[in-house]
Amino acid sequence: MNTNISTKIDIEKIVNSRISEVDFENLVFGSTFTDHMFECDFVDGEWQTPKIRPYQALMLEPSAKVFHYGQAVFEGMKAYKDDDGRVWLFRPEQNQKRINISAKRMAIPEFPEEYFMDGLITLMKMDHEWIKPGEGNSLYIRPFVMATEPGVVASRSNNYKFMIICSPVKPYYKGEVRVEIAQKYSRAADGGVGFAKAAGNYGAQFYPTKLAIEKGYQQVIWTDSNTHQYLEEAGTMNVFFRVNDTLLTAPTSDRILDGVTRKSLIQLAQDMGISVEVRPVAVKEILEASNNGTLKEIFGAGTAAVISPIVSFAYDEKEYDLPRLENSYAQQLKKRVTDIQYNRSEDPYGWRVEVKL
Ligand code: COI
Repeated sequence: MNTNISTKIDIEKIVNSRISEVDFENLVFGSTFTDHMFECDFVDGEWQTPKIRPYQALMLEPSAKVFHYGQAVFEGMKAYKDDDGRVWLFRPEQNQKRINISAKRMAIPEFPEEYFMDGLITLMKMDHEWIKPGEGNSLYIRPFVMATEPGVVASRSNNYKFMIICSPVKPYYKGEVRVEIAQKYSRAADGGVGFAKAAGNYGAQFYPTKLAIEKGYQQVIWTDSNTHQYLEEAGTMNVFFRVNDTLLTAPTSDRILDGVTRKSLIQLAQDMGISVEVRPVAVKEILEASNNGTLKEIFGAGTAAVISPIVSFAYDEKEYDLPRLENSYAQQLKKRVTDIQYNRSEDPYGWRVEVKL
C-alpha cells in the first residue's frame, strides 16, 4: 500500500504533550486519548480541507441531527509497535472500505479514500509515542462520521464531520468471559443495519447487555431476530464455535458485521489445516454438542478484544461450561494473528502496513 501523503492537511500541533501524565500500565480501555485528532467537515456538498488539531471538545448545536436521529457510523482499528520501534497498521484498507459501506446505509456521503489514509498515517506519525511495544499494548483507532446539521426535522443531514481519535489500550477483557444466549432481544434484523458499524446498532445492545450483566454475564450471544434459533454474534464481536475439530461461524449477511478479525481468522485457520464451516450455527446443535462433550470452544473475534475465549454460556436459565483446553484453537489463532500484527512473523497476505516514522 502506498503510504505517501498527497492530501493537504491543515495541522495545528499541541504546545505541551499530555503523554507524561498517562499511566500506560493501568489504562481503562478507550478512556485516554492521544494529543491530536483528525477532522474533516462536509458542507456545501463536499468534504473540506482536513485538519489535525489538539484533541479537544467539539462545539455542536444541540439540534445537530446526530443527537436526535443517531446518524453516525464508526470504525475500530489498531496500530502496533514492534520491538524495534516500527509502527504497523493491520489491514487498514478494510476499515476504509467498510466505513463507506456503513456510511452508504446511513445516507452519509462517502469519505474519500486518500483523505482517510493520509489523515490516518499523518496522525500516526504525529502521535506514535503513544503506541507502546509489547504484547497486549496497542493504539485503538476510532474513525467516525456524524451528522452535524442543526435542525430536528427527521431527514438526512446536509452536513457531517468525519474524525479520527486514538486511544492507547491494553487488552479489552480482563478475566473470564461468561455469556448468555439471547432469547428475547435482537441485535439486528433482515433489511436493517446489523452489517454496518452504525452507532445506534451498539447503543441498542446496552439494555439487554445490562440485564445480562445483572445476572452475572459479561456479554450476550445474539441470535437471529426471526426465530432466536441461530447464533450470530457475541457482544460487539463475531463469534466462533469449535465442535470436535471444526470451527463454525455464521456467514455475513444483513445482520452480521463483516469483521476484519473474523475474515483474517478464517484464512489463518484454513492455512493451519483447521476445517472451517461458514454456515448458520443452530443453538440446538451447540447445546447438543455441549451435552455430548464435542463442544470444545467458543470465542469472540473483533478488533478491540482480538480473540476473547468464552468460559461458559447460559441458555434457558441453564449454565453450560466449556472445557479448559491446552493449546486451544483460540490460543493458536490469537498467536498467529498477533504475530502478524506485531511484526513477529511472516505476513503472507500483506496485511501489515508500516507507518514510516
Ligand atoms: C471491535 O472490536 O471491532 C469493536 O468494534 C468493539 C468496539 C465497539 C469497542
